Amino acid sequence: MTNSHVHVVDHPLVQHKLTLMRERDRSTKGFRELLNEIGMLLAYEVTRDLPIEWVDIETPIAPMKAPKIAGKKLTLAPILRAGVGFLDGMLALMPSARIAHIGLYRDPNTLQAVEYYFKAPQDLTDRTVILMDPMLATGNSACAAAELLKARGARDIRFVCLLAAPEGVAKFTSEHPDIPIWTAAIDEKLNDHAYIVPGLGDAGDRMFGTK
Ligand code: URA
Repeated sequence: MTNSHVHVVDHPLVQHKLTLMRERDRSTKGFRELLNEIGMLLAYEVTRDLPIEWVDIETPIAPMKAPKIAGKKLTLAPILRAGVGFLDGMLALMPSARIAHIGLYRDPNTLQAVEYYFKAPQDLTDRTVILMDPMLATGNSACAAAELLKARGARDIRFVCLLAAPEGVAKFTSEHPDIPIWTAAIDEKLNDHAYIVPGLGDAGDRMFGTK
């Protein structure tokens, strides 16, 4: 499943690293490092069309007009806790970015997203916001996070994940058709516990070693 709002990043480096992450026996350390590396590679893709402005600079040889990213500093918005796994990789490429932490957990019975923390820069209206969560499963958390960001004025939001389920993509694109998605893969389906199949298991547990 793909449309102009869903970008499947098929770069061989991303695909190779994702395969390593899926392997059951990958260590916590290895999983975390790979997620960071993929975060960096996805950051490159999601920022590809950022607007630039031409500024006057002087090289040691001559003055010139040179391109810079226009506008206010970007905001990176990880959904806690698994979204944090992308953060260092993204910050490596965007070291001045602001950060919005969005605390949501999935109620195990209803599977609905429950908010427990939200702290973002005051002025999101004119910032590009990169919302991130490795797993787009039911889409409930991603939709709730996007609503919170929009309520704070965000108008240019992009969603980055590692793996998506068709169900999550369908829900997110229908509720937030204005927000494009970048993912490394769209897997087959969700299972009865809303885990992505074949997926990679619980991303938070695997990156933090909590199981
Ligand atoms: N969250 C995860 O960490 N893994 C899934 O498969 C689905 C949601």
